[in-house]
Amino acid sequence: MYKGTLFHLETRHMSLKDKEKWDSKYGGTEYITSKEPCAWLTDNADLLTGKGLAIDMASGEGRNAVFAAEKGYETLAIDVSANGLGKARSLANEKNVIIETSVVDLDDWKFEQNAFDLVLCFNFLERRIFPDIRNTLKPGGLIFYETFTIDYLKYSNFKRDWVLEHNELLEAFSEFHILRYREVDHDNKAFASLVARKKNDSEN
Ligand SMILES: C[S@@+](CC[C@H](N)C(=O)[O-])C[C@H]1O[C@@H](n2cnc3c(N)ncnc32)[C@H](O)[C@@H]1O
Repeated sequence: MYKGTLFHLETRHMSLKDKEKWDSKYGGTEYITSKEPCAWLTDNADLLTGKGLAIDMASGEGRNAVFAAEKGYETLAIDVSANGLGKARSLANEKNVIIETSVVDLDDWKFEQNAFDLVLCFNFLERRIFPDIRNTLKPGGLIFYETFTIDYLKYSNFKRDWVLEHNELLEAFSEFHILRYREVDHDNKAFASLVARKKNDSEN
């Protein structure tokens, strides 16, 4: 169980437009992002110790948070959408694991330092929180990050702000050990994927 303080939001702080948009997308019973965890997570699951606390940022319907819980992590799923998190809890029930969930606006969330052994962030980009993500990991902890790159603008009407530059994740986590990294532009999809480990104090 995550023992840190969860800063539940007051509505006035909540990014209401985002919340309404995502609550409406997740409003049906169908899982719009599927129940299967992302391939980058399952393909690199050999790196997961299954020990300690994990957080899935912008976890949506919870496919990756549930996978972390299945691997043995005590997992917190946070997202701006209560509907998404409701489905995440249902998925956890279905898979016989427990996850903690909290409705959080990542624009306005106070990250605890050195709190998590594993941070997951898939298909979400808010570069202002890169330093917070680095700080909330414990030394030795792992970050799995995957989201769209600038190449995806060829295939979508995404705003430039919503996509990574080439090598941006490498730069954001340059003080970590980069364990695995790729950039893919294939089949009308373009994204970057990273696994990195925060250095222990003795390595700095
Ligand atoms: C494309 S979905 C990705 C969901 C999940 N990570 C996955 O890959 O299945 C983006 C998610 O970001 C969440 N989100 C958007 N803005 C947010 C914010 N300011 N704070 C927290 N979550 C946010 C949405 O509710 C949505 O679940």
